[in-house]
Amino acid sequence: MTIASAPSKLNLALRVGAQKPDGYHALASIFYALSPREYVVARRSRRAMGANPVVRTVVYDTDGLGSWVPSERLTKQFAKEDPATNLAMLAAKALGAGSSVSLTVHKTVPVAGGMAGGSADAAATLMAVNQMLGLRLPFDELLKVGARLGADVPASLMGGISYGTGRGDVLEPIFDGTRNVEPRSQWWVLVFFDQGLSTAKVFSRFDDITPGSLTTPEVSNEQRQALATPSIPAVLATLDNQLQDAAFSLRPELAEVGEGLQDLGAQGWVMSGAGPTVAALAKDEASARELAAKFDELKLPGVRSTAVVWGPTCGASLERALPSWAQAFVGADA
Ligand code: C5P
Repeated sequence: MTIASAPSKLNLALRVGAQKPDGYHALASIFYALSPREYVVARRSRRAMGANPVVRTVVYDTDGLGSWVPSERLTKQFAKEDPATNLAMLAAKALGAGSSVSLTVHKTVPVAGGMAGGSADAAATLMAVNQMLGLRLPFDELLKVGARLGADVPASLMGGISYGTGRGDVLEPIFDGTRNVEPRSQWWVLVFFDQGLSTAKVFSRFDDITPGSLTTPEVSNEQRQALATPSIPAVLATLDNQLQDAAFSLRPELAEVGEGLQDLGAQGWVMSGAGPTVAALAKDEASARELAAKFDELKLPGVRSTAVVWGPTCGASLERALPSWAQAFVGADA
């Protein structure tokens, strides 16, 4: 049995350019690795079924007290997704694994939430399968395989803070997340929603509402350099997601959530990626917990839960054990 984990992300900044012939938009993104992680357990399985690695996914939600608990509802919902597009399965397959490899994914990152949960599944799987099968692929090779699986996979492998251009997959590290450093510099409140958002729909709405021709998107050198030593002012100065207006026109309640968090004392807020997850920056851990508690009291419709999280955190890593909240499932499918 081999265990690996990989972080979720926020886009502190997401600047969008024109659509390219391959249908994707040029992006400039500041990826910031966040503490909620996906854990993947890889095993050699004796029960070979079909040609592909077998994936079982357990989805977790917050319990309102700061801990993750398995959610039967979310797990059942996830089971309806097409197994052929499962990124953990595709990542294992990309490393040559067949049906003799089975994976259990312990999923805390919301599905279609704009936090690259699927990419984190792929990143953790690449680490675990590389180790379990003794492939010894160097990290740079995993980055290349990851980029072919999805534009956000390299950022999850790298962790820390990175600058992505192209489709977001051409990465330049800003704050090194490949070492196991966990400075917990910033505390955030995440607001999760019942309904995810389709990335394709958000980009298509962006095209509809953005007039004129678009230039190559970028985040200035100055802003990037300021993040090499992550601080609250540097992070605040970066927050800017150009997909927000498109997402808000599809789901107006998202803007209200952000403004509500600001009114309750957040230092600043941003929607992550193509949404809908909204992240509010707090002064410190105590303020983040207070902000989450006050926000929970509003009981806004459409809001699933909140989580107090921190960053920037390290990239994909091998783990000796699962965290305690996920351990109940180890015996169940061994
Ligand atoms: O990356 P993913 O496959 O989740 O993207 C889903 C859709 O979102 C793409 O098919 C494309 O329509 C849109 N997209 C885009 N530009 C990007 C990323 C996604 O237009 N950089």
